[in-house]
Amino acid sequence: MSETIDYIKSIIDNFEPEIGLVLGSGLGELADEVNGKRIPYCEIPGFENSTVQGHKGSLVFAKVNGKKCVFMQGRYHFYEGHTLQKITFPIRVMKELGVKTLILTNAAGGINPNFKGGNLMLITDHINMLGTNPLIGMNNDTFGPRFPDMSEVYKKRLRDIAKQQAHILNIDLKEGVYVASSGPSYETPAEVKMLAILGADACGMSTVPEAIIANHCGIDVLGISCITNMAAGIENKPLCHEEVVEQANKIKSDFKNLILSIIENI
Ligand code: HPA
Repeated sequence: MSETIDYIKSIIDNFEPEIGLVLGSGLGELADEVNGKRIPYCEIPGFENSTVQGHKGSLVFAKVNGKKCVFMQGRYHFYEGHTLQKITFPIRVMKELGVKTLILTNAAGGINPNFKGGNLMLITDHINMLGTNPLIGMNNDTFGPRFPDMSEVYKKRLRDIAKQQAHILNIDLKEGVYVASSGPSYETPAEVKMLAILGADACGMSTVPEAIIANHCGIDVLGISCITNMAAGIENKPLCHEEVVEQANKIKSDFKNLILSIIENI
């Protein structure tokens, strides 16, 4: 960890980010448009290379709407074969750099029948169906407790700001529970039915590990899903990654405007 922090600080000087953002599939463009310092993951000691189409791997440090931010342009996924510890390492790096608030974004399949492709969903809570947890192993007490409370991972204070800004921008922001499973295969229709019964409104393959690690070390989390498609079996058509990226592209202007106003008002 200290090698990573020393390397990053040697590039960003005294820039101390207060807000961290993780940009999901097809949503990385926001970080292209900000003026700041970019460090490719492949140059950062301790970071893995990201392998997914539509995900660029860089940390971007920039002042946005008066707030010092660090963007993860591209994230790591469990299905790439990384351990959950590797996937979430950048979140602990953010903590060490001074981040207090983390905005997690993702592309997700809609399970709630009131959703449609193109909606944005504020994450109220999550269900971890990864079958594992990034905190398994020796607890690092400098980051947080062995048995962290998970009663309010996605902070109400931040959700209220998001809802207020969506209202001002006239964006129909849905709300719901996000469930993460490992992927990379999409869910079967039977699994989607099960997830609906379990109380999930949207399903995806990310976000939960980062939220667990952020919550553990006392970073406040806000989560926003782009509903890029309805989950398998809800509409009578097959799912494909190209469609997910295409739909994310269509939502991106609303998405960017919402994120920028949230940043301004945190
Ligand atoms: N399922 C899982 N992950 C996803 C989906 C989906 O339907 N859409 C985008 N990411």
